[in-house]
Amino acid sequence: MIEFNPSAFGHLRPFCTRVFSFGKGIIKRHCRFWIFPSFNWVIAVGSFLTFLLAMACAYLFLFSRFQPDIHSYEIPKSNSSVNECNVFRGSWIKDESYPLYNASQCPFAERGFNCLANGRRDRGYTKWRWKPKNCDIPRFNVHQILEKMRGKRIVFVGDSLSRTQWESLICMLMTGVEDKRSVYEVNGNKITKQIRFLGVRFSSFDLRIDFYRSVFLVQPGPTPRRAPKRVKSILKLDKLDDISNEWIDSDVLIFNSGHWWTPSKLFEMGCYFQIGASLKLGMPITTAFKTALNTWVSWAETTINANKTSLFFRTFESSHWSGRNRLSCKVTRRPSSKTGGKDWSSVSDIIIRAVKKMSVPVTVLHVTPMGAFRSDAHVGTWSDNPSVPDCSHWCLPGVPDMWNEILLSYLMSKNELSVP
Ligand SMILES: *[C@@H]1O[C@H](CO)[C@@H](O)[C@H](O)[C@H]1NC(C)=O
Ligand SMILES: *[C@@H]1O[C@H](CO)[C@@H](O)[C@H](O)[C@H]1NC(C)=O
Ligand SMILES: *[C@@H]1O[C@H](CO)[C@@H](O)[C@H](O)[C@H]1NC(C)=O
Repeated sequence: MIEFNPSAFGHLRPFCTRVFSFGKGIIKRHCRFWIFPSFNWVIAVGSFLTFLLAMACAYLFLFSRFQPDIHSYEIPKSNSSVNECNVFRGSWIKDESYPLYNASQCPFAERGFNCLANGRRDRGYTKWRWKPKNCDIPRFNVHQILEKMRGKRIVFVGDSLSRTQWESLICMLMTGVEDKRSVYEVNGNKITKQIRFLGVRFSSFDLRIDFYRSVFLVQPGPTPRRAPKRVKSILKLDKLDDISNEWIDSDVLIFNSGHWWTPSKLFEMGCYFQIGASLKLGMPITTAFKTALNTWVSWAETTINANKTSLFFRTFESSHWSGRNRLSCKVTRRPSSKTGGKDWSSVSDIIIRAVKKMSVPVTVLHVTPMGAFRSDAHVGTWSDNPSVPDCSHWCLPGVPDMWNEILLSYLMSKNELSVP
């Protein structure tokens, strides 16, 4: 089960009424649970066998080469006898050397995520480091990373959680740049919640870090003719977002999706699914999400040059709504000791399954389990709109920094990021 409170996003207009003005969309109402039906056992057994095979291949591959700091991650819940580190299994430990930056000194940390600037007093939440059970994430070494990323283009695609990670990465890397003015948004744009594209350039390193807002990854469209009245707009599940061609030419490409695949953001807004010319009024959201992911898989397999582009997909970012209607948001002072089931998400499961059978390598950033403990790290009422508590987004600095440390550790352990 997942939940997500879009009211946390503030006062924007419904997505589906403004399909053509990109990014104009968010809704006010809270979301419901969305329960995905369980998979049948045939698929489960098949997946398991595929997984075993994949693990065997990964093992052979890894041990025939140099030993990277972190090995590839496959499935969270499997009991692998292979003695390798699952970087996404571990715990948070106190570390006084954190945080990695001061959001008030980073022009790319949006005000809404800068909890300290918005009045949060306790700072303990900024001082936790993720410690994988059987290995260590290399210390963040900004100068080494900036050198390695010289001339590269890193692209984030997804919803506001993707934007957070984008902001976090920029702020982390800016700590290694003396002249802060040498880092700028290429169109001079300010960060807003609806903006479709933001591109930040580190001019001394010829490094670009871009963000594309594409909450569903597939294309929205207008109401088809002769559709029932309740249909206000559609999602073309078989067509990737029309700006996807702008993502191809990148060195690192990080996707997310999931938070928008809820009845309150789709059906209740009059948004239904379409495949080809056929309207799929009865299609459940789970099926639609899987279909959209398969569209993404085909797109990636046919357009991504794995020699050039390192491909990542981030799983569901745990939220911490509580109470009967999941509308209550109580940010704690310390991480919780138990995950309360939040370390599992059907969205994450679907992503992991979709990615596993791909012909191009994709690294799953499985952040669901690590986020599950961090009931202390959400924006809460320390946002730009304190009247609407937010237990979905994270304070910066905070949890998204750790996503980036893991991302960077993968990139740094890669022998060859291609030369542009
Ligand atoms: C995982 O496998 C090990 C030995 O291979 C076994 O001792 C352990 O009980 C297993 N754990 C689970 C959760 O199945
Ligand atoms: C962050 O920087 C601001 C402005 O320079 C400063 O007032 C604040 O004390 C700093 N915060 C921390 C946690 O160091
Ligand atoms: C990627 O590299 C491999 C090995 O160097 C090569 O065989 C393959 O043709 C390359 N693929 C593309 C699309 O460039």
